[in-house]
Amino acid sequence: MKRLMIGVVALTALVIGTATLALAAGASLPKGYARWERSAQKMVTDKNSLFYGIHYTYVDKKAMPAFKKGGAYPEGSRFVVEFFSIKDKGGKPVAGKKNMIVLMKKDKRQKATGGWLFAGFNANGSPSGIDPVKNCYECHLKEAGKTDLVFSKFSDFR
Ligand code: HEC
Repeated sequence: MKRLMIGVVALTALVIGTATLALAAGASLPKGYARWERSAQKMVTDKNSLFYGIHYTYVDKKAMPAFKKGGAYPEGSRFVVEFFSIKDKGGKPVAGKKNMIVLMKKDKRQKATGGWLFAGFNANGSPSGIDPVKNCYECHLKEAGKTDLVFSKFSDFR
C-alpha cells in the first residue's frame, strides 16, 4: 500500500511537472487536429526554403469563417501545419517522414507576437523550443501583416 501511495504521488508530481513545462513552453499540440479541415498537399522543392518538403495545413472551425471571408480572426482560432520530407516512389515525389509541426493560435496574451501564439514541434509532438519572435513572427508580420498574420488563402486551400 505504501509503495502504491509513493507511486501515485510520483505520478501526480510528474503530471503537474509536465503541465507546468507545457505552460512555460507556451503551448501543446491541439488534440484531434487531424480531424479539422485539411488543405490539399503542398510541395516546396527549393531546398533553401524553410518549407522544403511536403506539407498540409489544418484549419479549425473557429478560424474557418475569417479564413473564407478575410478579416481578423476570433480569439482561439487555430492553424496547424504538418511537414514531411520528400521521398521518391518510382520517380514520383511522395510524402516521406514527418519532420516538423507548427501551430498558430489566436491568443490576445501573446503581445510580442501580434496576438497569436506561434509554436514549433518535433514530429513526435514535443515542443522544439524555437524562438517564436525571431523564427516565426517576424516573417509572418513582414509578409502576411495585412491578413492578420495568416499566409494561407482559402482559395488555394484545396
Ligand atoms: C520565412 C518565413 C516564415 C517563417 C520564418 C515561418 N513561417 Fe509560418 N508560414 C510561412 C508561409 C509562406 C506560410 C504558408 C505556407 C503555404 O502556402 O501553405 C506559413 C504558414 C504557417 C501556418 C499556417 C497558417 C498560415 O499563416 O498560412 C502556421 C500555423 C505557421 N506558418 C506557423 C509558423 C511557426 C510556428 C513558425 C515558427 C516556428 C513559422 N510559421 C515560421 C512563412 C513563414
